[in-house]
Amino acid sequence: MMVSLRIVISLQVLTYAVLSLTQNAAPFKLPPQSVFIDSPSFAVLGENATFRQSSLFQLFNPTNTTPPFFQIFDQSFLSIIGPSPFIREIASNNTFPFAYEAPIFNSKTNEVFFSSSISMKDVDAALAVNSTSTINVPVTEVCLIFNLMVVTATHAFILQLDLPETVQMTNGGTGPFKGSLLFVTNGRGPRPASVVLVNPLSPNNATVLLDNFFGRQFNSLDDVKVHPSGNIFFTDLTIASIDHIRPPPLIPPQVYRLDPNARTVRVVATGFMEPNGIAFSPDGETAYISDTGSLAATVDQTKTATIFAFDVDKKTQAFKNRSVFAYTDAGIPDGIHVDTKGNVYAGCGDGVQVWNDEGTLLGKFFIGSSIANMIFTGDGRMVILAGNKIFLANIAAKGLPPLFP
Ligand SMILES: *[C@@H]1O[C@H](CO)[C@@H](O)[C@H](O)[C@H]1NC(C)=O
Ligand SMILES: *[C@@H]1O[C@H](CO)[C@@H](O)[C@H](O)[C@H]1NC(C)=O
Ligand SMILES: *[C@@H]1O[C@H](CO)[C@@H](O)[C@H](O)[C@H]1NC(C)=O
Ligand SMILES: *[C@@H]1O[C@H](CO)[C@@H](O)[C@H](O)[C@H]1NC(C)=O
Ligand SMILES: *[C@@H]1O[C@H](CO)[C@@H](O)[C@H](O)[C@H]1NC(C)=O
Repeated sequence: MMVSLRIVISLQVLTYAVLSLTQNAAPFKLPPQSVFIDSPSFAVLGENATFRQSSLFQLFNPTNTTPPFFQIFDQSFLSIIGPSPFIREIASNNTFPFAYEAPIFNSKTNEVFFSSSISMKDVDAALAVNSTSTINVPVTEVCLIFNLMVVTATHAFILQLDLPETVQMTNGGTGPFKGSLLFVTNGRGPRPASVVLVNPLSPNNATVLLDNFFGRQFNSLDDVKVHPSGNIFFTDLTIASIDHIRPPPLIPPQVYRLDPNARTVRVVATGFMEPNGIAFSPDGETAYISDTGSLAATVDQTKTATIFAFDVDKKTQAFKNRSVFAYTDAGIPDGIHVDTKGNVYAGCGDGVQVWNDEGTLLGKFFIGSSIANMIFTGDGRMVILAGNKIFLANIAAKGLPPLFP
């Protein structure tokens, strides 16, 4: 989701000590780069405590530890990070939020594909020229790539991809799916939002699978996953209109299913503020959707920053039995991923937060700023896109491999 990054880079993120806790004595051996936060130690703050006023700019870092590090809330987080976790920055660009969304790991070439954020400076400049709310502003957005093999201890070499004009404002990605990268795009100006396949190899040719709902345009497609049935599920929200790169919404924010063979599309879930990230449990029976209404046209932290869980109907694949899975304490839950054990990872306002399949917060990969998305890159590795930086975490957990590589 684009607006999150715009806000975070324009304001200094404060780490905020709710309590002046010293490091809690952990009832287990603490792995390196980690702290244990014992829940009873902050359960009661008292009448004169400094409470957090903002979920975005005052993060929960009671030990005042310098990021990046692992925050452990539950001992079972140890099985996720393992005995010798390590998290480090591998790329940065102070002037351009190049590492943003749609990460896909292609294990055949050991490469990570991802998209940059748009340059809000360009959008603002274009808006200044045309004072009316505008579309088709020239904005910077590039698809990039780096090879994990050539990540040295401190650096990843990033290459820019030249994608066809049909691929505009890439915001979600998954796969590889049958040999191609599977992206969803916001579209831009008159160019419709789309579900598109891109060749991971040169010349990176693309095939658009879908760009409308019975002749009506989507608003701005945000994220995508492939279900074990082979069907493609994606979310549509209103961010691109808020960012002035798309016309006002003409269809509700909702979740769709595309049958890639029959090319039929239907709605599987509705009633959201801003349906954003999407993921399925390993068996495909549970769907997770993050709803990020608190960070949309306005910032309003009384609105949703919530991951909902649904049962996927066996026959129709409609999402049934909506329930609250987790509400994040920091910013919004953006991209979501599930590991082989069913634990759920979301990019949030302070880093990557991890819950077990019952929605219990186990711990965080605490980065100290908003994370739009991340991706498992082989067993025990995760690449985290942090806007102006990329982090690599070496952990124990494994991501779900692509189902139809
Ligand atoms: C809170 O602060 C007020 C004003 O300084 C003081 O009178 C009161 O005793 C404090 N309460 C606690 C529990 O410290
Ligand atoms: C940062 O990104 C900008 C825009 O792509 C590029 O011109 C510049 O060279 C980059 N800086 C570094 C240090 O990579
Ligand atoms: C300003 O609006 C005009 C007319 O709608 C359009 O042709 C032009 O591309 C716009 N300029 C910018 C910078 O968006
Ligand atoms: C790219 O072009 C090749 C050769 O024409 C074709 O086989 C392949 O399906 C194309 N891939 C995509 C994603 O369009
Ligand atoms: C929804 O919940 C009800 C009650 O637990 C259950 O009987 C039903 O099977 C669930 N629906 C799906 C699609 O799993």
